[in-house]
Amino acid sequence: MEVILADYLGFCYGVKRAIKIARENASEDGTSCTLGPIIHNPQMVERLKAEGVGTVDRLEELPEGTIIIRSHGVGPEVYQEAEERGLKVVDATCPHVKKAQLSAKELVDEGYNVVIIGEKQHPEVKSIFEWSGRKARVLETEAEAKELDSCAKLGIVCQTTFSGAKFRQIAMHLLEKSRDVRILRTICTATDQRQAAAIDLAQQVDLMLVIGGKNSANTTRLAQLCNEYCLTYHIETAAELRDEWFDKIEKIGITAGASTPDWIIKEVYKKCQNRA
Ligand code: F3S
Repeated sequence: MEVILADYLGFCYGVKRAIKIARENASEDGTSCTLGPIIHNPQMVERLKAEGVGTVDRLEELPEGTIIIRSHGVGPEVYQEAEERGLKVVDATCPHVKKAQLSAKELVDEGYNVVIIGEKQHPEVKSIFEWSGRKARVLETEAEAKELDSCAKLGIVCQTTFSGAKFRQIAMHLLEKSRDVRILRTICTATDQRQAAAIDLAQQVDLMLVIGGKNSANTTRLAQLCNEYCLTYHIETAAELRDEWFDKIEKIGITAGASTPDWIIKEVYKKCQNRA
């Protein structure tokens, strides 16, 4: 049995950067916390907690200390509220997300009706929406794009981790909605690279293992894409591997979401190799 790793997998630049920033601001007395889990990976969140970086869901849960903004980013009002509460703000927003946030704001300031193409419930999309002054429309499907009213000026930004192919399909409908359409393709290359490498590998193997948090949008998307080409399992850790999955399997492909730590990928890889 052959085990092949995707050419691009695991932590992206923005996640590595956010974790580094969080570690640099760890404190032993529990007063250093991220606002929401730093990444959508429960194992990494636990590890950071042990190193002195906790998690709060709301600013009021941290009476004093340092609040770390995670890579998904937050709206401008959160920075203001944290300062009013006397908290030190450490901003680990991924620069690509920052670009999408500021692009939405700029488009609104220039008089564009702004559309965010992305998942409505994703924290990053919510943060971009806040930066648009809550004026943007969030569209997730082609059907929603078709229903959009025409307008004089239409500006489009995208969730950084959205599927490139789906973005193009939705944007095609939006091109018909205005004579002045400005598209800022704010999808980051890490997502495109991981998706392309996963699809490429899924076409060469009998089974794909996609590793990452079940609550991670980009990992779930990788699993959906791989599933179109071969048998695919989405797992969080090596403990979920089942013997029966490997019956009659000759080639296994492994990929992992942008929020999956290296040590978990290595564990899965080793366990698969031991069967080979
Ligand atoms: Fe940033 Fe792209 Fe990662 S937006 S957090 S580098 S997936």
